[in-house]
Amino acid sequence: MVRKVRTAVVGCGMISNIYIKNLKQLFSVIDLVAVGNRSRAAAEEKAATYGIERVMTIDEIAAADDIELVVNLTPAYAHYGIIKQMLLAGKHVWTEKTMTVTLDEARELVDIANEKGLYLGVAPDTVLGAGLQTARRALETDMIGTVSSGLAVINRNQTLNSEYFTFLQGEGGSLPYDVGIYYVGALLSLLGPVKGIRAFGAPAPLHQPEFLYRNADAEPWRIPGSNVIAAALQFECGAVVSVLFDGNTVNAEQHNITLFGSRGILKVGDPDKFNSPSSLIYADQPECVLPFTHGYNGVNTVEPSPFDFYGHRGVGVAEMAYAIRAGRPNRCSKEYGLHCLEVLAGMEEAIATGRTVEPKSRFEMKPLAPGYYSAFMGGSGRADAERSLMD
Ligand SMILES: NC(=O)c1ccc[n+]([C@@H]2O[C@H](COP(=O)([O-])OP(=O)(O)OC[C@H]3O[C@@H](n4cnc5c(N)ncnc54)[C@H](O)[C@@H]3O)[C@@H](O)[C@H]2O)c1
Repeated sequence: MVRKVRTAVVGCGMISNIYIKNLKQLFSVIDLVAVGNRSRAAAEEKAATYGIERVMTIDEIAAADDIELVVNLTPAYAHYGIIKQMLLAGKHVWTEKTMTVTLDEARELVDIANEKGLYLGVAPDTVLGAGLQTARRALETDMIGTVSSGLAVINRNQTLNSEYFTFLQGEGGSLPYDVGIYYVGALLSLLGPVKGIRAFGAPAPLHQPEFLYRNADAEPWRIPGSNVIAAALQFECGAVVSVLFDGNTVNAEQHNITLFGSRGILKVGDPDKFNSPSSLIYADQPECVLPFTHGYNGVNTVEPSPFDFYGHRGVGVAEMAYAIRAGRPNRCSKEYGLHCLEVLAGMEEAIATGRTVEPKSRFEMKPLAPGYYSAFMGGSGRADAERSLMD
């Protein structure tokens, strides 16, 4: 038996619902003992809804000797302060994306974690889901040959969405940082590190609130950073990928990741989902949808809830908990999180300078073992997919 990792969640908003549910129900390696939030009422509500023993302040969580791992689910602009506080208090940390909103902050956190020998895991963990692990297996089993190029596209009306998800109005709320990160994470997990970035971009418009019945007194705002980016990424493996993030358009997502190879084409599923399948295209053949080779397909078989839409978020926390116990590197590592941020920040730098930007960091991410599925025995008890997180 692996000793459970005593865990606390900080940040009790929207996404905490699926994290708390999954951490409580799906992973035997996690013992979720406490929740904390800036406003205590939100933490009390989650504790009551999901049956968590303790409601604590952020400072109490940092000071609690028995808590080993803190899962940070606050908005991106709050990440740096909370992660730093928890690392300095000797806690391992898992954080939602992006690790921070500036590269200097992220590099400082990586240095602190290294100095203190602590784990710092970073979302997106959709890269560990059935959709993207199957896509990776297709590449590693040589189903499309050598990847020469690719395309990654996502669009939304990010300004309209920032009325509802108000944290999007702050740093880290632009479409590239909030959603493009899933595309960057997926590309990195499939193709490895990036060595060169070029880009053009445009800001978000000044937004006049449209849901006036909801927010009649709001002043207009502009989401910081570039909300539209057209970039070219050169990967160390030799592939070149065109990236288009457009947050200034309508909420009719045209998500697309396509990888072109010497013997075939891989259409990768939606990287924001755990259950989006990939398909193969060969010359003169019908397009073929690939069956999942891995578990964590986003289907929650235990006590269905409206938040199951968010799939198996938290799988990266459990994988990191097993890594902590085994003393091995975790897959959604601080190096992966830092490289994701370097790619996004590199796009902004390339837009500002007109130059090619070369990321400094590197990372490695081993694939999960195939052949373990989440719905084994109807998903009753602990699904056998958890076995794939152990090594
Ligand atoms: N909403 C989504 O669809 C979604 C999906 C995936 C990931 N995420 C990520 O999860 C994180 C949280 O998103 P959300 O949608 O739950 O946001 P949210 O605004 O619903 O919740 C954030 C919570 O954090 C709390 N908080 C803010 N600053 C804090 C601080 N300094 N200390 C303690 N608590 C603080 C707020 O009170 C709130 O309860 C973000 O990083 C976001 O990018 C969100």
